[in-house]
Amino acid sequence: MGGVMLILLLCLWAGSMLVARAEDPYLFFTWNLTYGTISPLGVPQQGILINGQFPGPNINSTSNNNIVLNVFNNLDEPFLLTWNGVQQRKNSWQDGVLGTNCPILPGKNYTYHFQVKDQIGSYMYYPVTAMHKAAGGFGGLRINSRLLIPVPYPDPADDYTILAGDWFSKGHTTLKKLLDGGRNLGRCDGVHINGKVAKGDGKDEPLFTMEPGKTYKYRICNVGIKTSLNIRFQAHNMKLVEMEGSHTVQNVYESLDVHVGQCFSVLVTADQEPKDYYVVASTRFTRRLVTSTGIIRYTNGKGPASPELPPPPVGWAWSLNQFRTFRWNLTASAARPNPQGSYHYGSINITRTIKLANTAGKVDGKLRYAINGVSYVDPPTPLKLAEYYNVADKVFKYDNIADDPPATISEITLNPIVLNLTHRTFIEIIFENRETAIQSWHLSGYSFFAVAIEAGTWTPDKRKNYNLLDAVSRHTIQVFPKSWAAILLTFDNCGMWNIRSEIWDRHYLGQQLYVSVLSPARSLRDEYNIPDNLLLCGIVESMPKPPPYSM
Ligand SMILES: *[C@@H]1O[C@H](CO)[C@@H](O)[C@H](O)[C@H]1NC(C)=O
Ligand SMILES: *[C@@H]1O[C@H](CO)[C@@H](O)[C@H](O)[C@H]1NC(C)=O
Ligand SMILES: *[C@@H]1O[C@H](CO)[C@@H](O)[C@H](O)[C@H]1NC(C)=O
Ligand SMILES: *[C@@H]1O[C@H](CO)[C@@H](O)[C@H](O)[C@H]1NC(C)=O
Ligand SMILES: *[C@@H]1O[C@H](CO)[C@@H](O)[C@H](O)[C@H]1NC(C)=O
Ligand SMILES: *[C@@H]1O[C@H](CO)[C@@H](O)[C@H](O)[C@H]1NC(C)=O
Repeated sequence: MGGVMLILLLCLWAGSMLVARAEDPYLFFTWNLTYGTISPLGVPQQGILINGQFPGPNINSTSNNNIVLNVFNNLDEPFLLTWNGVQQRKNSWQDGVLGTNCPILPGKNYTYHFQVKDQIGSYMYYPVTAMHKAAGGFGGLRINSRLLIPVPYPDPADDYTILAGDWFSKGHTTLKKLLDGGRNLGRCDGVHINGKVAKGDGKDEPLFTMEPGKTYKYRICNVGIKTSLNIRFQAHNMKLVEMEGSHTVQNVYESLDVHVGQCFSVLVTADQEPKDYYVVASTRFTRRLVTSTGIIRYTNGKGPASPELPPPPVGWAWSLNQFRTFRWNLTASAARPNPQGSYHYGSINITRTIKLANTAGKVDGKLRYAINGVSYVDPPTPLKLAEYYNVADKVFKYDNIADDPPATISEITLNPIVLNLTHRTFIEIIFENRETAIQSWHLSGYSFFAVAIEAGTWTPDKRKNYNLLDAVSRHTIQVFPKSWAAILLTFDNCGMWNIRSEIWDRHYLGQQLYVSVLSPARSLRDEYNIPDNLLLCGIVESMPKPPPYSM
């Protein structure tokens, strides 16, 4: 009897193992990165294409899909892509930034292998090497809800992606030379929407079409270099439904400020007179206002879009007020990577407060951007690899910036920056923008609670102003000039994770850092082993692989 039970139990156990192994679906991609001719502002120039496309292909995935994506670098420079907002649970190996990955050399390839685990929402990918992002190589990445999980709005008639960004016509090589020479980028030459601008001569092809009476989902991302954009539709409101992986309270907006690196999903209903309408993108906080348009066409449309464009808002106080209207929908169910940190985040004790103050200055006569006085430079050996191979001390120093920087930072030094964070601690990060330009900070590997943005200087008593109830859980937060922003999160995802300015000249000239979250037990439960195909470089290239992690 006992024996039969045991066999039965064993069968059940084997059965559940099989279920566990009946893996989530795989999506396979092969991407060829090449130079080619693009015309984002209507004038042909050299750009970076993926399989001949600019913007690159849209990745259409569903929660928990496995993505296997083989990138062939046929450019003449080392290249890497990152998946902005994809959390890479236990898997910073696939984050595709220079602190975790060696770049793909010209003529070589690398196969990214990751799972969009427990996430939904609208994301984008883009190049992180040199100034390649200024030439293309970017695209949209969507993660649909699994069929069984309810979504807090009816199925839209279609699902569209808008990638808008400022554009600098000089080309990525010239832009890089400017920055390397200690100069700045100057102002952008225009704004593109999905790689083009409408001419307004009546011959523009529509970006998207809508059937009268139907409701459409637009995923809107700012894929630009440094400029915040205001996005709006002529004569149509937008109902905000999702922001960087979280269902939001569904407020209605006439326009939305989307800062670099951010993505919003909105619903737009085709409830107006059937004709063409413009979707409009305008630069924000720039001396010269640049506005671009794209055509949205009603399927039974008769007639062109009106040339009269709705005006953009003025000033950054408007933007700050809009931020304060964003709320997480606490009752919507959705895949969440770190549910234990999701609820009651307002009542968890903070174990460490880290202030990150951005400043600009000169080093050897050249412009550099810094965090707490250190301007980040990538060492030839990726930080993650140095740590994994136990040679971190030859490559970088942990905690080489203070958690609480002095009020005045006069000197800037060049170094890698790595903070040593203790696994599963609940940490408060204050982004202090001491400059007069807008900032936009991204954290990879996580989403965080964006609890406050305020003008002036942060002090501990500002905590009483935090939204400790329904702040949106997201991955990128803007910080207005001479202002601060506060985020809270549990660091429960082991790996080496990038905190970067999405303002790309600042990122290139030093405003980024890494946080290292180690698995205390070096356990596979906390972090995956180094992938067999991982590219190696720097001092670890010829070293024997350390013993793998175990359960
Ligand atoms: C990539 O594109 C280049 C240029 O068109 C071509 O020579 C090469 O064969 C392509 N490689 C792959 C792997 O498709
Ligand atoms: C995206 O994937 C979903 C779910 O598999 C599918 O229903 C939809 O048609 C796809 N959309 C596109 C544009 O491929
Ligand atoms: C390069 O592509 C080949 C297939 O063409 C694949 O077998 C190999 O694993 C890829 N290299 C890396 C480093 O992923
Ligand atoms: C939040 O989500 C719930 C559950 O899906 C939905 O019924 C509700 O309308 C949403 N609330 C708001 C304010 O958007
Ligand atoms: C948080 O800190 C307070 C004050 O130090 C303490 O009384 C409380 O027990 C702590 N709560 C938790 C959950 O650790
Ligand atoms: C990181 O911090 C932990 C304590 O939180 C400490 O035990 C460990 O030695 C630190 N590691 C390094 C490399 O500084």
